[in-house]
Amino acid sequence: MTTLILFSTRDGQTRDIAASIINELSAQGVTSEMLDLHNAEHIDWARYDSVAIGASIRYGHFHPSLMRFVTQHAAALNTLPGAFFSVNLVARKADKRTPETNSYTRKFLEAAPWKPQLAAVFAGALRYPRYKWYDRMMIRLIMKMTGGETDTSKEVVYTDWEQVKDFARNIARLANNSSVI
Ligand SMILES: Cc1cc2nc3c(=O)[nH]c(=O)nc-3n(C[C@H](O)[C@H](O)[C@H](O)COP(=O)(O)O)c2cc1C
Repeated sequence: MTTLILFSTRDGQTRDIAASIINELSAQGVTSEMLDLHNAEHIDWARYDSVAIGASIRYGHFHPSLMRFVTQHAAALNTLPGAFFSVNLVARKADKRTPETNSYTRKFLEAAPWKPQLAAVFAGALRYPRYKWYDRMMIRLIMKMTGGETDTSKEVVYTDWEQVKDFARNIARLANNSSVI
């Protein structure tokens, strides 16, 4: 049996985190598959014995497809051991990096009909040179207001890859327990 990792990304960081989770799961002897949530209308849930979903924040919101997806698939999702992770820049501050203290994550988990057993918040990436002019200016303004990086020539990855690995090991435990049952 297999763990399914679904991701919702705009600039690729959530996909990179999903890939890192897949690597660690493989190191733990857990088979897994990665799928873009935006191209995952029809899923054969019987193939999977656990699931993780990751999504990033843009201008205060997850992509609307995330809530649509978990609502449409709530019945199947809630029968599987599950994990959720969110990716955003607020989480570069350690006190905003838990599901309880990161308001995007807390609100999503409260509102979603899917109730995963595990949740984590990861700091994302700041990649000024890749953004369109408007986005670059907006992000710079937010960074200025919150004491972050304002040099628009910079790309900074804030993701704590050890935190990602730890989370993957917890997913492996979840997956292994479910196959024992
Ligand atoms: C246009 C834009 C808007 C963003 N808005 C927010 C935001 O409101 N709050 C936040 O914490 N991070 C925000 N971010 C940071 C992203 O969540 C971060 O860059 C993350 O790594 C993106 O992940 P992705 O590449 O998987 O989409 C924003 C980034 C961009 C480019």
